[in-house]
Amino acid sequence: MKLFKRTDRMLVVNLKPNFIQRILDYDYLIGREPSVVSIVHRTDTLHKAFYGSEEFMIPVYKDMKRALEAHNPEVVLNLASFRSAYLPTKLALEHPSVRVVVIVAEGIPERQMKELIALAKKHNKTIIGPATFGALTVGALRAGVVGGDTNNLIKSRLYAPGSVGLVTRSGGLLNEMFRMIARASDGVNEGVAIGGDVFPGSTMLEHIMRFEQNPEIKLIVALSEIGGKEEYEIARLKKEGKIKKPLIMWVAGASAELFPWQVQFGHAAAKAGSEKEKALAKMEALREAGVLVPHTFSELENLIREESERLGLKPKDVPYNKPPLDFAKAKAQGLVRRPTSIVSSISWEKEGEITYNGVPLSRIIEEKSNIGRVIGLLWFKKDLPEDFQRFLELALIVLADHGPHVSGAHNAIVAARAGKDIISSLASGLLTIGPRFGGAIDDAVRYFKDAHDRGLSPREFVEEMKRQGKLIPGIGHRVKSKHNPDKRVELIKRFVFENIPDPRYLKYALAVEEETLKKSDNLILNVDGAIGASFLDMLYYSGFTEEEIKEIVEIGYVNGLFAIARSIGMVGHILDQKRLKQPLYRHPNDDIYVLK
Ligand code: ACO
Ligand code: LMR
Repeated sequence: MKLFKRTDRMLVVNLKPNFIQRILDYDYLIGREPSVVSIVHRTDTLHKAFYGSEEFMIPVYKDMKRALEAHNPEVVLNLASFRSAYLPTKLALEHPSVRVVVIVAEGIPERQMKELIALAKKHNKTIIGPATFGALTVGALRAGVVGGDTNNLIKSRLYAPGSVGLVTRSGGLLNEMFRMIARASDGVNEGVAIGGDVFPGSTMLEHIMRFEQNPEIKLIVALSEIGGKEEYEIARLKKEGKIKKPLIMWVAGASAELFPWQVQFGHAAAKAGSEKEKALAKMEALREAGVLVPHTFSELENLIREESERLGLKPKDVPYNKPPLDFAKAKAQGLVRRPTSIVSSISWEKEGEITYNGVPLSRIIEEKSNIGRVIGLLWFKKDLPEDFQRFLELALIVLADHGPHVSGAHNAIVAARAGKDIISSLASGLLTIGPRFGGAIDDAVRYFKDAHDRGLSPREFVEEMKRQGKLIPGIGHRVKSKHNPDKRVELIKRFVFENIPDPRYLKYALAVEEETLKKSDNLILNVDGAIGASFLDMLYYSGFTEEEIKEIVEIGYVNGLFAIARSIGMVGHILDQKRLKQPLYRHPNDDIYVLK
């Protein structure tokens, strides 16, 4: 009786995408439909996977029973940890459609395994494992990752059913044997790693007897280990003619006898508790019973080759579909290329640490940098002169807030009182920034620079803007005026005149203010205008070239300065409203004139 059929469907417990994809790649290799029909994991969802180069969805269930009832799988591959593998295995064994359960976890409590083994026997079902890579019926189903990656599957001819039945304890040795049997024979028909636990769900002998019943299998190969006495039962059945097919065996762990004390090999069961459990003793008993046992592991391949030639086993030529390489692997092998979707140049991880324009964050902190330096690195891609850094920091401080009355703060407050979260309320405030409120800085830079560089006198500039019907960006304020000056503007002016020898753009803007104040007391150089003009002076003073300045003016850098600065104040107002538990805002009727 074969372990798996080509029509078998599999339920996988625990969503492990790579594991599942390698199973599906085997399905594609042998040209069968996708074997994984459902997955059990934390929540009901869909898992996207490849079949060849086509993507498809596999239903994921939170509840194992629902998954079993919805799909009635013949095979269950249990990838759950040793802590949680018991229940899904029990449910699987109790479900009528399930025939085989593969348990990958190592270290399942022995009491639980004994119970599961008894349950499997009661329902006449097969458990492979625990502590196994799985099992494979060539050309039918791969339950696990036995056989390795696609290249190894192909090199081991695991797409073409051969005549050898292979059973090992170890998954690693199973893969090694796949390659050896492909070289020395016509390949494997079925390969099973029963796992290295003390209580395996199915024994080596059970699989050998299954191979004995399988007419496609002409030669049986089994790799055992020190520990346990199953080999003596195999020897007895061979001697009694109940195992008629040629059986080649090797027992790993002979080296343990070189040690004067008891050696525990990798698997829990790999420990010789008595003379009879030692490798050499077991191999001697097998040899006497007519089992073919090489004297050294290195002779194993030749022994398989000799037996295969005697049996006339010849590899059949069977087509296969090689699954496409995942893009990342193909790229790593230089087989494919793809243009990148995004180009970025300001920050990147280097040796596990973010760097701002190449400067590691730890160095920025060690050097006690201010926020102006960080803006320089991330916005200008330069380590700005210290004065420019301090100017940017001053700008952020003076722009951080201007009370709850201003339009940006108002909108943030209203949104917060409507119950919006901080980010949504902040967005409401930030979206208020525009040509009249906070967003006039970049235009002030452009207009002041253009007028100054064209040699217009302040009066000529003011008259030109009037003729064009344009308001001068950076001029005017709702409440500040000549007699109620904006302290923030005073602070900016003081910093610039103290640090810049010839702030020609700020001087020009102040001369424009003199002209506009002739018209109205509130047409002052406002904080947007003061920062904009001073920013130009800082650029020239910091050695930016004309080309660089032209690009900065065209792109517009400094409205961003207002936005990040004023975010501090807006968040403050939002938090304030929430602390004060302010109710929904509604504008008072008597403060709205309704046009009838
Ligand atoms: N340039 C030229 N003339 C102006 C300007 C200006 N920037 N601002 C107002 N005026 C004139 C108007 O044309 C109007 O003249 P009129 O009486 O002949 O029609 C008069 O001054 C009053 O205009 P209002 O718009 O009523 O003045 P208000 O005090 O409401 O305007 C405001 C204040 C909105 C800031 C306005 O000056 C303006 O839009 N300025 C340009 C944009 C700007 O710099 N905004 C930043 C403000 S500061 C900040 O947000 C942090
Ligand atoms: C501010 O910085 O928000 C103000 O200058 C604008 C205003 O309306 O007062």
